Amino acid sequence: MTLFERAERVIPGGVNSPVRAFRSVGGQPFFAARGQGAYLWDEEGRRYVDWVQSYGATILGHADPAVVEAVARAAADGTTYGAPTRREVELAEAICARVAGCEMVRLVSSGTEAGMSVIRTARGATGRSRIVKFAGCYHGHSDGLLAAAGTGMAALVLPDSAGVPAGAVADTVVVPYNVVPELDDGVAAVIVEPVAANMGLVPPVPGFLEGLRSECDRVGALLIFDEVITGFRVGPGGASGLLGITPDLWCFGKVIGGGLPLAAFGGRRDVMEALAPLGPVYQAGTLSGNPIATAAGLAVLDLLDAGTYEAIAGTAGALAAGLEGALAEAGVEATVPRFATLVGLFLGPGPVTDYDTARAVAGNGLYPGFFHDLLDAGVSVAPGAYEAIFAGLAHGPAEVDLTVRAAARAAQGVSAAMAATAR
Ligand SMILES: Cc1ncc(COP(=O)(O)O)c(C=O)c1O
Repeated sequence: MTLFERAERVIPGGVNSPVRAFRSVGGQPFFAARGQGAYLWDEEGRRYVDWVQSYGATILGHADPAVVEAVARAAADGTTYGAPTRREVELAEAICARVAGCEMVRLVSSGTEAGMSVIRTARGATGRSRIVKFAGCYHGHSDGLLAAAGTGMAALVLPDSAGVPAGAVADTVVVPYNVVPELDDGVAAVIVEPVAANMGLVPPVPGFLEGLRSECDRVGALLIFDEVITGFRVGPGGASGLLGITPDLWCFGKVIGGGLPLAAFGGRRDVMEALAPLGPVYQAGTLSGNPIATAAGLAVLDLLDAGTYEAIAGTAGALAAGLEGALAEAGVEATVPRFATLVGLFLGPGPVTDYDTARAVAGNGLYPGFFHDLLDAGVSVAPGAYEAIFAGLAHGPAEVDLTVRAAARAAQGVSAAMAATAR
């Protein structure tokens, strides 16, 4: 029996997160055995250039020596205590020092928890109920935020999740990305990925985030940037720092945990002080601010500076240009958006500006073949057309070159598939 068959007997779909199951690209997932830098090896010993990097959690690459050492040292002192620790303070300070306008943070264990808790905080602080989110933006799988949520749901063509009662989403309004909605004074908060990366990569059009900021100010609603992907990835101050727009609250995750379960939400002091034990909004966690996760996060942040972000953006730029060229050479009109260190890939013509335009391309059936051709050539990108490509510090010219050469061969398959459908 294969490992996947064993997995399917005891884990629904054989996976602990649906997008890993390869359902939208066909076939069976490989099982990762180990990673080093830009590379992953599967249980059969095959090596892949890994552009998934745990969906953005490992910006330094796999098993970075500084992270491994920090984790080992922390673990030797105990894995969790239930009492506050020095490193929680240091990590909170490191986040607040880097993100202008973020005055306090609370550490949690996943991006879902951050999203769920930031909404409760915003509602508690404003005394209002309604939340506005954008179609195609993903903020974790909590009930109230699981409407038109992109990524895994989009890849599985699930319009909504079963098990979410109507009441849980009654106060969630979903509007199109890149259009500033008109708000009223019933809105507690607007939550947005400032650079959308869960419907493929869709950067904000000029004026969108500025418009959200002023519309929120007009009605007294809080603006929340979900920077679980973009935080500490597109630059030291995340998307808000790079774009110069300051929300009231943020969600962070992925990079700040160095590959361990750690996330955070934070923002304006007066709003964050609504949280217990200071205020009336309850939020808690046995493993929140875990000593091993904070050690990993601090080790990562320590190694990221202007120079490293510039290097990663250079890699991302070379990869985007290479993919675009390889696809164009094969006669495939593709859209390869890039925002700083993030790259997207749509196997069809743009412009892609929102969930509808993203779905029109991502759902055209060309991605699965391209994905499998890359995988066969030893290049791992996400097994779903709605994910970003995560360049990191461990990727360099050799990995870009190997990937672009594999993409050039895979593009021939895309071109043939397009010709076959046209006939
Ligand atoms: C923008 C954004 N917010 C929230 C989440 C949820 O994070 P987690 O998977 O850690 O629960 C994700 C996960 O991909 C994300 O991309």
